[in-house]
Amino acid sequence: MEQSQFKVEFIASTMLTPSVAELSFRRLDKLPFPFIPGQFITFLLPHLSGKIVPRSYSLANSPSQTNRLDIAIAPVQNGFATNILFNLKSGDLLDCVGPKGRLILQPAEKPTHYLLVATGTGVAPYRSMLPILAERLEEDKKLKVTLLLGVRYAHDLLYVEDFIAFAQKYSNFHFRGYLSRADRETAPYQYVGYVQSAFESLDLNPMTDLVYLCGNPYMIDESIEQLQNIGFSLQSIRREKYISRKV
Ligand SMILES: Cc1cc2nc3c(=O)[nH]c(=O)nc-3n(C[C@H](O)[C@H](O)[C@H](O)COP(=O)(O)OP(=O)(O)OC[C@H]3O[C@@H](n4cnc5c(N)ncnc54)[C@H](O)[C@@H]3O)c2cc1C
Ligand SMILES: NC(=O)c1ccc[n+]([C@@H]2O[C@H](COP(=O)([O-])OP(=O)(O)OC[C@H]3O[C@@H](n4cnc5c(N)ncnc54)[C@H](OP(=O)(O)O)[C@@H]3O)[C@@H](O)[C@H]2O)c1
Repeated sequence: MEQSQFKVEFIASTMLTPSVAELSFRRLDKLPFPFIPGQFITFLLPHLSGKIVPRSYSLANSPSQTNRLDIAIAPVQNGFATNILFNLKSGDLLDCVGPKGRLILQPAEKPTHYLLVATGTGVAPYRSMLPILAERLEEDKKLKVTLLLGVRYAHDLLYVEDFIAFAQKYSNFHFRGYLSRADRETAPYQYVGYVQSAFESLDLNPMTDLVYLCGNPYMIDESIEQLQNIGFSLQSIRREKYISRKV
């Protein structure tokens, strides 16, 4: 999908969890915004020094809402973009480029199992993918999809209602929330620990399964190491690390 630069107008924000906000924008030129689920946009933010600072955010909505862009953002203490994005007012304009990114489901690939792994807001790409996953699960009754989301506490599980509802509709879709700082689970889909601790119990097949990793860079590095140890090649592991260049 071709990248372009355009202005977006901030519409509104809602809190998804006590700390993560969902921000909604629309293109100012009212043109549609086609993207592939899993892709991100980059805001070009003006700095006092006169420099333009890029900050990227995954699209959390599905492309059917053509002119609209939703992102889920976690606050970083004293973060440059955090300070701008958490203080937007309705009608504020931002420059933006996109869509970009290759954390997407390739139409030609037919794995037996998609393992989608995220920490925090790294789950946004998978939420955007839900309509495509629905199509794939309907087309291929043998396909299995597992989504693992790692956060600190149960109240940090963003979009959890969407994933639970999807799992209720599609019996081959499995959702697990991993809680790194809770001392116990309070629902059947919850597990205490880091997302990687699930790998052993998932009966993964390195020859036929595809793994997607998104979010915390340490989670990604440790997951890759574990997956390679059980026979996965890097071709079967797609990843996107949420780190940006320093201001
Ligand atoms: C492809 C891509 C997609 C992304 N998608 C999302 C998304 O959907 N939602 C989202 O919230 N973020 C996302 N990010 C991260 C986002 O781009 C910013 O890096 C993040 O919002 C922090 O920016 P900032 O300017 O507020 O902080 P900065 O001013 O860059 O950082 C301030 C300080 O905090 C540290 N820091 C920076 N980021 C983090 C972090 N994540 N955790 C802990 N410490 C940090 C820095 O090292 C620095 O010391 C994505 C990044 C990439 C590369
Ligand atoms: N003030 C708040 O209440 C609050 C809440 C949320 C986020 N934040 C800040 O927002 C920023 C982004 O936070 P985020 O929660 O979206 O992302 P994050 O800091 O990457 O954390 C997301 C989850 O990943 C876990 N994690 C850390 N290292 C891991 C590893 N090696 N393997 C597997 N999982 C790992 C974290 O566990 P652990 O942290 O337990 O190790 C946490 O459960 C950070 O700066 C964070 O401090 C603040």
